[in-house]
Amino acid sequence: MTLLTVEGLQLSLREGDRFTPFVEDVSFSVEKGKTVALVGESGCGKSITCLSMLRLLNPEAVQISGGSIQFEGQDLLHLPLSQLRHIRGNSIGMVFQDPLSSLNPVFSIGNQLVEAIQNHRSVSYAEAKEKALHMLASVRVSRPELRFTEYPYQLSGGMRQRVMIAMALLGEPKLLIADEPTTALDVTIQAQILSLLIELQEEMNLGILLVTHDLGVVAEFADEVLVMHTGRIVERAPVQALFENPQHAYTKKLLASVLKLGGTQ
Ligand SMILES: Nc1ncnc2c1ncn2[C@@H]1O[C@H](COP(=O)(O)OP(=O)(O)OP(=O)(O)O)[C@@H](O)[C@H]1O
Ligand SMILES: [Mg+2]
Repeated sequence: MTLLTVEGLQLSLREGDRFTPFVEDVSFSVEKGKTVALVGESGCGKSITCLSMLRLLNPEAVQISGGSIQFEGQDLLHLPLSQLRHIRGNSIGMVFQDPLSSLNPVFSIGNQLVEAIQNHRSVSYAEAKEKALHMLASVRVSRPELRFTEYPYQLSGGMRQRVMIAMALLGEPKLLIADEPTTALDVTIQAQILSLLIELQEEMNLGILLVTHDLGVVAEFADEVLVMHTGRIVERAPVQALFENPQHAYTKKLLASVLKLGGTQ
């Protein structure tokens, strides 16, 4: 079953006084329980594409200038903000690219989780705390009671990333948009976070839109791959087909660079 359908998306960036199209003609869909990976070089438009799904872009800088985004039949681009807020965090969870800047440094982890829960549901502090501790445990954060009282700077990068995933999953979303959820982490922690995502995906039948520049992650995790190059999807294929028979010159270059790296190790 299709959760998200994006058609002909166009995003324009401010250049001086004008907005100029940067992301153009982006179309894809994400099914329940499946992972679509979005790959491409730095600055090609992956993050702004993700942020546009929930209309989280700063309209002074980036505007959605064309196309449509449907989530379970709802037109996200024209939904009143009150309804969109309900979808954010409830039906669609998002892990942002930079976990340190998305966690508030002056509030404890527990405080932030409880606030996020109470934003979406009218529950008592005690109930919200119980739910928060449960979420921390389910993303395999060690000693949840202790972490609950700690501040973001006291957590390792891997732990912070787990907290971000917990935060994104609090509302039991159907779709998770994860923008480079493992990039800043070392290889071992990266593998742990990915296997966590795979487990949670199976448990919750989550659809995932996963941004990564790591083709190893793509090979292991994705069902379908979108290759983005300067704001356009230049290739879209099931993961195996992409690796076995890349069509576009840019995809070939991307794959060759990984093979070369692998060869020199
Ligand atoms: N808030 C913003 N205001 C203005 N321009 C922006 C903003 N965010 C991104 N851009 C521009 O949009 C383009 C795409 O950026 P984006 O962050 O989506 O790239 P990316 O593919 O996610 O790169 P990376 O792999 O480095 O995260 C870039 O040219 C960037 O400078
Ligand atoms: Mg990005």
